[in-house]
Amino acid sequence: MIDESNGYEGIADIYIPGRGRAVNGVGATTARAWAATFAPGAELLDLGCGTGIPVTKILLEAGLKVWAVDASAKMVADFRTNFPGVPVAWEAVERSGFFGRQFDGIISVGLMFLLAPAIQRALIPKMAAALKPGGRLLFTSPMQIVEWNDAMTELPSWSLGAEEYRGLLLASGLSLGEEMRDEGGNYYFSGVRPPTSP
Ligand SMILES: C[S@@+](CC[C@H](N)C(=O)[O-])C[C@H]1O[C@@H](n2cnc3c(N)ncnc32)[C@H](O)[C@@H]1O
Repeated sequence: MIDESNGYEGIADIYIPGRGRAVNGVGATTARAWAATFAPGAELLDLGCGTGIPVTKILLEAGLKVWAVDASAKMVADFRTNFPGVPVAWEAVERSGFFGRQFDGIISVGLMFLLAPAIQRALIPKMAAALKPGGRLLFTSPMQIVEWNDAMTELPSWSLGAEEYRGLLLASGLSLGEEMRDEGGNYYFSGVRPPTSP
């Protein structure tokens, strides 16, 4: 079977006991602050969720409802053990059935740059279309245009750079939201679907 996890299935046994258990790992503070901006009961999608720790856990602790997607079978199995009852799909984000729904927020930490540039360019409009009016998108990728090998999988990673990411968000009908950097140096892009007029 083709591995669509961009190498993460192969290193899951190393990843899960490390980052996959880091409840206060890099980015947790940023995810917690973002989660706190949603009303309790808001519906969130976590793309490339891994084990669900820390991001899904933080969303649930903020009283939000979560749907999640990951392409690694081992990550999804671990997620299901960690969060029984939380809907998680074992599938590639680029083909996720959850894009048939609408969410108050979509978060994707540590995923975008693992995807080939053409897939990134196709994914951003899909994420935007899956936001409710007023819904918000947050994803990480480096600010600069850069290609490198992922530290864990050693497979290629690509950032399209801030100018192209912002352009893709705007072209998808979103306005640009607040950008930020976390304690680990990860950069966050953000988009907001305009609320419908009253
Ligand atoms: C660096 S980990 C980040 C996990 C989690 N978001 C976090 O911040 O802890 C990247 C995750 O993306 C998943 N992934 C990679 N390519 C994917 C794809 N095409 N579709 C869905 N998930 C994918 C991997 O299996 C892995 O769990």
